[in-house]
Amino acid sequence: MENQKVTLSVIKADVGGFVGHSSVHPDMVKKAWSVLEEAKGRGLLIDAYVGTVGDDVNLIMTHRRGVDSEDIHSLAWNTFLQVTEVAKELKLYGAGQDLLSTAFSGNVKGMGPGVAEMEFVERPSEPVVVFMADKTEPGAWNFPLFRMFADPFNTAGLVIDPKMHDGFLFEVHDLIEHKKITFSCPEEMYDMLVFIGTPGRYVIKSVYSKTLNEIAATTSTQRLSLMAGRYIGKDDPVMIVRAQSGLPAVGEVLEPFAFPHLVAGWMRGSHCGPLMPVSMADARPSRFDGPPRVVALGFQLANGRLVGPNDFFSDKSFDRAREMANFLADYMRRLGPFEPHRLPMEEMEYTTMPEVLEKLAPRFQSLDDEATRRVEYQPVVASDVE
Ligand code: F6R
Ligand code: MG
Ligand code: MG
Repeated sequence: MENQKVTLSVIKADVGGFVGHSSVHPDMVKKAWSVLEEAKGRGLLIDAYVGTVGDDVNLIMTHRRGVDSEDIHSLAWNTFLQVTEVAKELKLYGAGQDLLSTAFSGNVKGMGPGVAEMEFVERPSEPVVVFMADKTEPGAWNFPLFRMFADPFNTAGLVIDPKMHDGFLFEVHDLIEHKKITFSCPEEMYDMLVFIGTPGRYVIKSVYSKTLNEIAATTSTQRLSLMAGRYIGKDDPVMIVRAQSGLPAVGEVLEPFAFPHLVAGWMRGSHCGPLMPVSMADARPSRFDGPPRVVALGFQLANGRLVGPNDFFSDKSFDRAREMANFLADYMRRLGPFEPHRLPMEEMEYTTMPEVLEKLAPRFQSLDDEATRRVEYQPVVASDVE
C-alpha cells in the first residue's frame, strides 16, 4: 500500500430539486449511496461518501484508477442516471437537468456534471477538505484559494512554515478562450490578480506546493451554459484541498469563509450575493433561491478510506459569517433588479434575459440618425392649455 497512489474524485450534478431548486430528496441520496456501495463491494471504489448541498448530489470517491478514469466517470454517470429515475418518479423539479447528453462517451467532462479530481501518494496522515457549493459558479473559489495559498494575513504558515515560505503555483484557466496559464506566487501575485478578479472567466483550476512538489488543491471548472450555449442551470462548483504539513492548516483552509464574499449565481443564475458557510443540514437555500451556500467536509484518508466527514461549518465560530451573510443578503436584495445585485449585461448572455432583449430590439432608434434625432414628443405646458 505504501507509496501507492490514491485518487480522490468528487463528481457532482443537479438531477432534481426538492422542492424547486432548494434541496435534494432523501430517496435520491439513498439511491446514490446504494450504487456507490455496490461499486465498493466489487472493488472499483475503495470508499465513497454522498454529500449534498442545496439541490446538488456530490459523489465523493476514492480509488486507484487515476484521474479521468472511464470506469469511475461511467460509475458517476450511471449513479446520476439512477438518481434521476428516483427524481422522475417523485416528479421532482428539473429531474436529470445536468445530464446534457443521453449517451455517455467515457468522461463526464463536458456532459454536465462538475468534476474535481486529484491523484497523490497518501502522506503518513492525509487531511483533506471537500468543499461543495450551491447557487454559484466555479470562479467562487478564486477568492478563498488566493487567501489560503497567497495571503499571509489569512495563512500564517506562509510566513512561519519554511515549507510554505517559497509559495505556491496557481494554474488559471480562461473558460472563454480555453487557455491556461500558471502563475508563481508570491512573485507573480499582482499579475495573477489581474485575471482571477474576473471569476466569471478566469478560474483557478489547481494549486501546487513549490517546496513539496505536490498538488494542494483542485476545483471543478465546468460552465454548463458555456457548454450548452444557453442557460440550463447552475455550475455549482466543488473543490478539494489537502491540508497540513507544509500545506495550509485545516484552520487556514477554512478561514477565508469567515468572510462571506460576494459571488455570482443567486436566483436564476443572474444575481450576486454572499457565499454563506453552512453545515450540510443547513444547506437548503430557500430565500430568493439562496443565498449561495458552501459546505466543507473534512476527511482523513486511511489507505484510501474516507474517515469522516467532519462537517466543519457546523462550528459556532462561523455564526458571525452567517450573520454577516444574512445582513449582506438583505442589503443586496434591496437593490432588486439593479446591478450589482443583478449581474452585468455580459454575464446575462446565457440567461433567459436575451429573449426579452430581442423582443425590444426593433424599438430602439439610432441617436446618430438625423431623422430620429428630432424631438418626438413636445411636452404640454400649462400656457398651452386653454
Ligand atoms: C437554479 C436556480 C433557480 C432557478 C429559478 C427559476 O439553480 O438558481 O434560482 O433559476 O428557480 O427556475 P425555472 O426557470 O426552472 O422556473
Ligand atoms: Mg438547480
Ligand atoms: Mg444547484
